[in-house]
Amino acid sequence: LAQRTLVLVKPDGVRRGLAGEVLRRIEAKGYTLAAVELRHADEALLVEHYAEHAGKPFVGPLIAMMSSGPVLAIVAEGQRVVEGFRSLAGATDPTLAAPGTIRGDLARDWGRPVIENLVHGSDSPTSAEREIALWFPAL
Ligand code: CMP
Repeated sequence: LAQRTLVLVKPDGVRRGLAGEVLRRIEAKGYTLAAVELRHADEALLVEHYAEHAGKPFVGPLIAMMSSGPVLAIVAEGQRVVEGFRSLAGATDPTLAAPGTIRGDLARDWGRPVIENLVHGSDSPTSAEREIALWFPAL
């Protein structure tokens, strides 16, 4: 089984019309799309998804932002895709993310309480499988 990762185009990305651009970069890099679904995440799913951040000060605003509109949930597949997508995404802070990356090219600081950085990518193969089971229980 090839490695898989969960990518989310966050509501700020969908709102700005960048969902297709993120899909394009994943495909242009050579990864395979295993699932793509536009959906409005409910709070229960997001609390589970961000379980590792429970108790951090930005979790409330983060969940509010993530449920403010639809998300494009993507499962991408390929050798080392977890690391590979994180490299495509760039650093968490979009001001510091390198040009050439999704965040470096397309995101910025808007002075809001939660960092709006357009995309999520699983941080390890273990997180990826946990997150895929949560977002795509049938996969
Ligand atoms: P991501 O790395 O996809 O998952 C956790 C998210 O929490 C992160 O993107 C940001 O959107 C947000 N986040 C992480 N750290 C902070 C922080 N220090 N302040 C505000 N938001 C944060």
